[in-house]
Amino acid sequence: MFVVSGSASRSVATHLAREISADLADIEVRRFKDGECYVRVRSNLENEDVIIVQTTYPDENIIETILIRDAVRDFNPNKIILVIPYYGYARQDRKFQDGEAVSARAIAEILSTDIDTVLLVDPHKDHITEFFKTKAFVCSAIPEIAKYLMNKNVDVVLAPDKGATWRAEKTAEILGCKWDFLEKTRISDEIVEIKPKNVDVSDRAIAIIDDIISTGGTMAKAVSEIKRQGAKEIYVACTHGLFIGEAINKITSAGATEIISTDTIESSFSKVRVAPQIASALRDSIFKLNYI
Ligand code: R5P
Repeated sequence: MFVVSGSASRSVATHLAREISADLADIEVRRFKDGECYVRVRSNLENEDVIIVQTTYPDENIIETILIRDAVRDFNPNKIILVIPYYGYARQDRKFQDGEAVSARAIAEILSTDIDTVLLVDPHKDHITEFFKTKAFVCSAIPEIAKYLMNKNVDVVLAPDKGATWRAEKTAEILGCKWDFLEKTRISDEIVEIKPKNVDVSDRAIAIIDDIISTGGTMAKAVSEIKRQGAKEIYVACTHGLFIGEAINKITSAGATEIISTDTIESSFSKVRVAPQIASALRDSIFKLNYI
């Protein structure tokens, strides 16, 4: 069995190969002077189970994934599994206005060709799996994020809104603490109050958990409100840390104690590895083989 790493996912691929005792394929990826991508796989993948690991963000990594798949396919492997640690375009998962492209579907269709199974890590919405034209599964980084938070003595885990409270609930269950979500109440035309629906945060250590931090606007607003309400420590955690522009500054100056993300998008905030959850999903859902 081989793991083939795209250039956006070296950390995930390396640790995954270790977790499942697979070989890491020898691959060359480079750019021509005009920016076009070149891929060559040197390991012999004939009759092997092959796991391609590549985050499809930014756009150039979509092209790289397509080229890796093409190179892999020509070896006639036994099976090709595509693991996408961060699936970009997931937030345009439906038409919000007439005439819009459903980007999550369009990219999923392109990536499905010649792939036996797809595994996504914390996609923005689970129904995105239905857009792939092959079997697609999801797994979550939440158990690994919770493990990281274990020695922080967190009192309450918060979801930044009531859209996806399961992440806060699951993290709190692992940590053995309370959870809640931030509720927006319109006080007047000008004033919107944001506070935890049920739990008092004053003098408590709080963790706020989201799937994505992009511009940091959502988290910065949540952190400053929680800080104003007297929280003593505020840990900000997400699976996918895009950290666009001034995101880190915004969240830090709002009063965050620490910012934590995983290695689905590699940065200096990637303190949590998702490979153990990917390995476990491959064992449980996809291979059901003894040798992993
Ligand atoms: C929204 O549905 C997501 O879960 C995140 O809260 C959002 O994408 C974060 O974006 P930003 O960091 O730009 O506020």
